[in-house]
Amino acid sequence: MPKPSRPLAVVTGASSGIGEQFARRYAREGYDLVLVARSGPALQAVADELVAQHGIAVDVHVADLGVAADVDILAEKLMNGLPRLDHLVNSAGIAPEGDLADADPRALRQLTDLNITALTLLMRAAIIRMRPAGRGTIINLTSAAAYQPIPHIAAYSASKTYVLMLTEAMSEENRPHGLRIFAIAPGDTETPMNPGAAKNKRQPNQVVDTAWKAISGTAPSVVDGRTNRVLAAVSSRFLPSLVRLRVAERMMRHKI
Ligand SMILES: NC(=O)c1ccc[n+]([C@@H]2O[C@H](COP(=O)([O-])OP(=O)(O)OC[C@H]3O[C@@H](n4cnc5c(N)ncnc54)[C@H](OP(=O)(O)O)[C@@H]3O)[C@@H](O)[C@H]2O)c1
Repeated sequence: MPKPSRPLAVVTGASSGIGEQFARRYAREGYDLVLVARSGPALQAVADELVAQHGIAVDVHVADLGVAADVDILAEKLMNGLPRLDHLVNSAGIAPEGDLADADPRALRQLTDLNITALTLLMRAAIIRMRPAGRGTIINLTSAAAYQPIPHIAAYSASKTYVLMLTEAMSEENRPHGLRIFAIAPGDTETPMNPGAAKNKRQPNQVVDTAWKAISGTAPSVVDGRTNRVLAAVSSRFLPSLVRLRVAERMMRHKI
């Protein structure tokens, strides 16, 4: 199979929010795309628009990444089923809120299966594919919530801490192989996951702009937005753990 001349990016969670904005950015930059999510019609609508606007090739890949078989099929496609693989963005994620004791066990399983397991296996597959080429970029969506434990969204924030730690380690592990791997940490960003306007809320295209700039850098993770950067640094480095826990608990108590 001849290698296409346009680079190819795979974006999970591309049917809405930050993932959709990543897809739009890659299309503008002239990448072919594989768009992944559960909602086929929403993905197809994005794909049709991007093909018409930019003359690129877009493959719609419908998958429930909370289901092991669907993750395995996509991982196999990343390793062996694509003509090339230049970028992977793991944006698919969910954030059910509330006390752990009140949470639906199925929603908790879905959260860990999607935010942790699927992301890990898809990143592994992309690394295996990219290493022989000696190049490639992987961008994982973590969160400003990753920088400290957060009562009332404890499983979500812990899942994003996992993403942050795993990604930073993979960044260093794969640097000698020529791969660029980093995590992008949005704070409050207006998307279907986090609807409505609020003070200091960012837009998904701003998150993508921050990530795009970071591609040419070396940082293993970046926080989007100056306020979020300051808050992440203060809570993770300067506050004693009991103080930061009490402050976070009080802030989240009024949000849920
Ligand atoms: N918005 C924020 O304030 C914020 C802040 C920090 C971090 N983040 C992170 O940013 C990422 C993107 O979030 P977003 O705000 O853009 O949310 P969003 O608009 O709800 O997008 C989530 C995407 O994930 C897909 N998805 C959900 N469950 C899936 C599943 N089981 N299998 C495959 N795809 C699935 C959704 O598509 P389908 O429903 O069609 O499957 C959708 O495309 C997430 O990882 C989130 O944790 C967001």
